[in-house]
Amino acid sequence: MRVTLFGASGLLGHALVPELKNEELTAPSSADADIRDAARIREVVRHSRPEWIILTAAYTDVDGCESNPERAFAVNCEGAANVARAAREVRSRLMFLSTDYLFDGTKRSPYEADDARNPLSVYGKSKARAEEQLLEILPDACIVRTSWLFGAGGPGFPAMILKLAAERGEISVVDDQRGCPTFTPDLASALVALCRKSARGIVHATNVGDCTRYDFAKEIVRMAGSKTSVQPVSSSKFPRPARRPAYSVLSSATLDAYGIRMPGWEDALERYLAGRGTTVA
Ligand SMILES: NC(=O)c1ccc[n+]([C@@H]2O[C@H](COP(=O)([O-])OP(=O)(O)OC[C@H]3O[C@@H](n4cnc5c(N)ncnc54)[C@H](OP(=O)(O)O)[C@@H]3O)[C@@H](O)[C@H]2O)c1
Repeated sequence: MRVTLFGASGLLGHALVPELKNEELTAPSSADADIRDAARIREVVRHSRPEWIILTAAYTDVDGCESNPERAFAVNCEGAANVARAAREVRSRLMFLSTDYLFDGTKRSPYEADDARNPLSVYGKSKARAEEQLLEILPDACIVRTSWLFGAGGPGFPAMILKLAAERGEISVVDDQRGCPTFTPDLASALVALCRKSARGIVHATNVGDCTRYDFAKEIVRMAGSKTSVQPVSSSKFPRPARRPAYSVLSSATLDAYGIRMPGWEDALERYLAGRGTTVA
């Protein structure tokens, strides 16, 4: 496959590049190809003539988006539309990475791909608007929503918990946000499989199983053999600029329909910790 990847230096990009090692890959940096620059993106895409464009590039600082909504919409929405127009011009397929944060979290059963978007944050609104625009520009685009990414190549929740556990005897973690932790190599493998299966429309892709942030932290600490105690607290104890959904578990039905099954999050966490050289208890 000839693939152009925007966002290679990011957390997910770090896992996608090795997953695409046997493909004909073009992966421009953000300095070389800022997705806000429509003319430059058009040029890159015309030159690389991809069969698939994978767009993981985004402004992902969820709290930062609250104070900088112009940037959030310029990158996440207009930037994505620039990439979609360039894809349409060369008849490339497009895979766009989206988020569980476009749901409001009021459901108590897994979100299906056709559930209504109702984002609580500027970040979520920018991704929700991007999805709508992309489907107008390129009706056969594949939109892959995922959640709670962790992996090598960037900061993430397990790395933060391990750092805190090394410094403190007790840590407090919110127990009123439930979602699906997702290991970037597992997601990268599912994304490439979806490209091969010529996927289209909205697909939810996460590791199997769900938990609260507190459950996730407890498991990280336990597997790492740390003696640090993890205490559950309400999100109101840690006020943040952006509201997060209380429940954003994504149903695997759309991924199942392509015959793709991702491993459980606990199994993924064990492989992540082993990869860091952390002895898994
Ligand atoms: N992280 C999560 O938990 C999570 C959850 C759900 C969905 N997602 C979605 O998954 C995708 C990948 O997330 P991630 O965690 O890998 O993101 P990330 O680590 O923040 O990486 C973002 C990438 O986008 C690039 N970028 C930012 N602004 C750009 C611009 N104007 N033009 C071109 N490139 C630009 C960055 O380049 P530089 O490094 O050069 O700045 C970087 O390569 C995103 O679409 C995100 O919305 C993430």
